[in-house]
Amino acid sequence: MTILVTGASGAVGRHLVTALLEQGRAVRALSRDPEKASLPAAVEIVAGDLTDTAALGDAVFDGVERAFVFPADGGIDPFVAAAVTAGVKRFVVLSSLAAAKEHPRDEGSVSQLHHTAVEQAVTSRTDAWTILRPGTFANNLLSWAWPIRNDWPIRAPHVQSAQAPIHEADIADAAAVALLHDDWIGQAIPLTGPQSLTRAEQVAAIGAGLGRELRLEEITPAQFRTDVAAFIPESIITMLLDYWHDTRTEPDRVRAGVTELTGRPGRTLEQWARDHHADFAATT
Ligand SMILES: NC(=O)c1ccc[n+]([C@@H]2O[C@H](COP(=O)([O-])OP(=O)(O)OC[C@H]3O[C@@H](n4cnc5c(N)ncnc54)[C@H](OP(=O)(O)O)[C@@H]3O)[C@@H](O)[C@H]2O)c1
Repeated sequence: MTILVTGASGAVGRHLVTALLEQGRAVRALSRDPEKASLPAAVEIVAGDLTDTAALGDAVFDGVERAFVFPADGGIDPFVAAAVTAGVKRFVVLSSLAAAKEHPRDEGSVSQLHHTAVEQAVTSRTDAWTILRPGTFANNLLSWAWPIRNDWPIRAPHVQSAQAPIHEADIADAAAVALLHDDWIGQAIPLTGPQSLTRAEQVAAIGAGLGRELRLEEITPAQFRTDVAAFIPESIITMLLDYWHDTRTEPDRVRAGVTELTGRPGRTLEQWARDHHADFAATT
């Protein structure tokens, strides 16, 4: 049985490929640029774009029974349709907690609309799905890599708001279990990290992981808008500020999903920082 991993060269997909190979599974990876994908030699890489199904060769789904679906920008509806037609029988979907619409801020947000459409592309075609709905990724905190590398203070608004960032390897481990076992079919599973930490505590946890004391400077939401306007689209800035604003008074709840799927607690933010040591290494 071949397992198709889309998004395989990404943060989650890369760990998922490794987890599946460690379990002796045959893995095929889809990449728009196989030369740059830099995946283990045991992986069969096929070239292709999730959003350009017409250009996908027959080799993509040949012998594939199960697939991990990356929620590509541009939508995955035609891709899932092609996969079902080609005989793929089980789908594990990378979605987002925003799709659960637990909070008024989620309703109509960029992330909710996108991930709801991704989920529907699968759930409208088959009953053999598992949807993983992670909350905020720890990898979002790589936005602090530049000040940390240069020993500048981290500038952040709403430093007393609390989130539960999840390590990308925990999402991958959960996905591997959902792909290989039947117990999770038909479930949409929220996933978070193991601790709800204020942003000030997140800075301290990353510092502990890196073995350095980090400085934090609180800025206003307006200053944050100005700081990032050149790099982040307006709709995403608003989504982030709404999230941090709300989680001042309603901290992210820690979800049991990672532990239920994998049988162990999720990795801490301190561990995540250790695993990303190179991303934060001084630039000297
Ligand atoms: N950040 C968060 O807090 C958060 C929270 C909940 C959910 N999510 C979801 O998680 C996703 C990020 O996951 P990640 O960190 O693993 O992603 P990532 O590191 O950005 O990697 C994404 C990979 O997907 C592949 N890809 C992207 N578009 C593609 C396309 N059109 N066709 C084929 N392959 C494509 C790319 O591979 P190639 O270049 O090799 O093709 C890329 O390496 C977000 O986009 C979002 O949907 C994020």
